[in-house]
Amino acid sequence: MANKSHFNSGLKMLNMMKANGILHSSSIKFSIPKKTRHALFISDAVDVLKKIPDNSIQLILIDPPYNIDMASWDSFHDYLEWAKIWLEESRRVLKDSGNIAIFGGLQYQGIKTGDLMELIFYLRNYTDMRLVNFIIWYYKNGMSAHRFFANRHEEIVWFAKTKKYYFDLDSVRIPFDEKTKIAYRRDKRLNPDSIEKGKNPTNVWEIGRLNSNSWERVGHPTQKPAEVVRRLVRGLSYPGSIVLDFSLVRALQEKSVLKKIDIVFWLIMIRCLKNILKNISKNCPINIRTNLRLLKIQLQNFLIIKINK
Ligand SMILES: C[S@@+](CC[C@H](N)C(=O)[O-])C[C@H]1O[C@@H](n2cnc3c(N)ncnc32)[C@H](O)[C@@H]1O
Repeated sequence: MANKSHFNSGLKMLNMMKANGILHSSSIKFSIPKKTRHALFISDAVDVLKKIPDNSIQLILIDPPYNIDMASWDSFHDYLEWAKIWLEESRRVLKDSGNIAIFGGLQYQGIKTGDLMELIFYLRNYTDMRLVNFIIWYYKNGMSAHRFFANRHEEIVWFAKTKKYYFDLDSVRIPFDEKTKIAYRRDKRLNPDSIEKGKNPTNVWEIGRLNSNSWERVGHPTQKPAEVVRRLVRGLSYPGSIVLDFSLVRALQEKSVLKKIDIVFWLIMIRCLKNILKNISKNCPINIRTNLRLLKIQLQNFLIIKINK
């Protein structure tokens, strides 16, 4: 179904199917795995991709360089030519239910050789991938500006390989507070089920950027908050599926994703551990002893793989 938000016939059809217990053709049967496995690849993303079989990955998260000379990894002679290689490889390895979420920014034009806008143009015009959502990650904290409106958002584009892409809205709904629930329950036009489940987070996500003293910080200049990644993993993949997380400093290959156990929880544990070592454990919001126990369990299933060309 096309994402035509000005028409509600598709939505009506989905509601009717739900009421009659008819599953959408994109639904997938899965069971929650007892064990999760993780592999960290120390490698160029393209070298890893080339070793992966066709149609095998459910979700690719990629936060590529911005092409703004932020660091040695951020300069390109021809950004789009480079990006085409991993975009094509990503399309190949995705399952038919698969999704790719690409982070980026649009505010950095000028003499540069490409940015997220060009990646979108390429995917829409030269591949059969489908743009599902253009997500605005909005934050209130950021740099000031004098010659333009201060930037307060970054973008994440979500492309699907086919129209049967997997999406689990229920796992990312935002619960209503009790007061709102009471008010909504009085409105007979609203679906009681949806009131209990919470609201669609929409395509504008207000999630604070990581301050330099944030307990999540690991020292990367463009580190994304775990909550942004968590929402993508939970919504766009299912337990037992494989998620590739490229060009994150914490570049992880995540096997048997984790809806209920949660990849990001694991990342949080690593960060907590780091913070504990730095004696700032008071900033870590989760119970430390539980963290350490879970960290130990997770590390038993963790592999580090170095890929040579
Ligand atoms: C925008 S940053 C990602 C930051 C990350 N999202 C985080 O939250 O910490 C881009 C990253 O891509 C990595 N990178 C650049 N070229 C790469 C390549 N060919 N393969 C894998 N990673 C690459 C860089 O080392 C850099 O850390």
